[in-house]
Amino acid sequence: MNGMASGNSNFRDGVPNLDIDPFDEDFLTDPYPYHEQMREAGPAVWLSKYGIWGVARHEEGAEILKDYKRFCSSAGVGLANFKSEKPFRPPSLLIEADPPEHTRARNVVGRALSQKNVAALQEAFEAEAELLVDQILEKGEIDGMKDLAIAFPLKVFPDAVGLEEEGRDKLLRYGNMVFNVFGPPNRLFTEAVAEAAELTEWITAHCMRDALAPGSIGQIIYEGADTGEVTEAEAGLLVRSLLSAGVDTTISSIGNMLYCFTENPGEWDKLRSAPSLTKHVIEEVIRLEGPVQTFFRTSVEATEISGVQIGANEKLVLFLGACNRDPRRWDDPDKFDIARKPVGHLAFGSGVHRCVGQRIAQLEAEVILRKMAERIKRIEPIGPSTLRLNNTIRVRESIPMRVIAA
Ligand code: HEM
Repeated sequence: MNGMASGNSNFRDGVPNLDIDPFDEDFLTDPYPYHEQMREAGPAVWLSKYGIWGVARHEEGAEILKDYKRFCSSAGVGLANFKSEKPFRPPSLLIEADPPEHTRARNVVGRALSQKNVAALQEAFEAEAELLVDQILEKGEIDGMKDLAIAFPLKVFPDAVGLEEEGRDKLLRYGNMVFNVFGPPNRLFTEAVAEAAELTEWITAHCMRDALAPGSIGQIIYEGADTGEVTEAEAGLLVRSLLSAGVDTTISSIGNMLYCFTENPGEWDKLRSAPSLTKHVIEEVIRLEGPVQTFFRTSVEATEISGVQIGANEKLVLFLGACNRDPRRWDDPDKFDIARKPVGHLAFGSGVHRCVGQRIAQLEAEVILRKMAERIKRIEPIGPSTLRLNNTIRVRESIPMRVIAA
């Protein structure tokens, strides 16, 4: 499957044509050799199976993300092109909109997730982290995904948004669906959408103003409806955007953090002897093992990227995970180095759509990691970890591990 395509009806003259399927289960399981192949083939490669461009180098990935005028999001940030296909569901007001419409919604959400509002969550996050670390130390042998990487965000994040306790496991299935449908209609997509009607009905009801706890981030978003910046219905959709984007991503990042440390015990020792590094560890984790592996853009008109001619209305898939391991940008890119401070990584995106929830994601990771590093001397794998395949998110299913008290 891997190599130069020829005689394909989708063949593009004069550019590297690759017969790679980035949503094939082989690719999703171990994307890194394919990333390297694409990066080395050129600044933009033609992926003939889907008739789209692939961008795997850091410089070009950053250029595209920063330039919403040339590369829009309103045609969808998944494989489907909303200009020629009816979207599977109404487009998101945030991630699938361009300025100026995007700016209106972004201001409302940006305010709700301001530094001050996120800082106010710290105490509750710390209390929950303390409880979980007690529990895992008591057990000794745990599943890092179930017992920490899922348990922690699935409690603190919906609490912050103001969602009621009951039925929160549905958020996992909902997030899984949202990120699978950015891909092609493969097995992962089809299985995920089978649940769409039930999950969408549930989440829509739970994002209504009256369903959200007083003083919550969800209620702050509804203040945007009170000021007339968005309608009441749009406020509900924005709350839903947070629940779509904020669960699977943080579960993935905390899981990937545990995975990186179990694979690199020397880095755990380094962290314990230099706790001031804690704050930036999550940046290195998501550079190396990015939760969001891909997002798409669409060219607004004919343009070029580093000399490669791109036609109008063509889809480009940005391999964020590949950009973040581009040796043109990073020294020793495949190495997990908690002292690195990887400024400029693209795991949270860049430009106008840069992750609006990044402060919450950083706080979650920092709080749990700090508690763990204080009280746990060693974490070690006790069996192979497994992946839960998703068309967009790199997330583990299970990380069997032992925790040893300090
Ligand atoms: C480590 C965890 C996370 C990662 C890696 C991540 C990654 C990303 C990326 C790459 C984008 C850019 C999308 C684009 O350019 O098309 C983005 C946007 C977004 N993220 Fe996150 N995210 C994370 C956590 C969160 C959390 C916790 C929330 C909610 C509180 C959230 C809400 C959003 C929203 C609403 C957008 C759309 C912003 C816009 O279009 O203006 N994310 N995220």
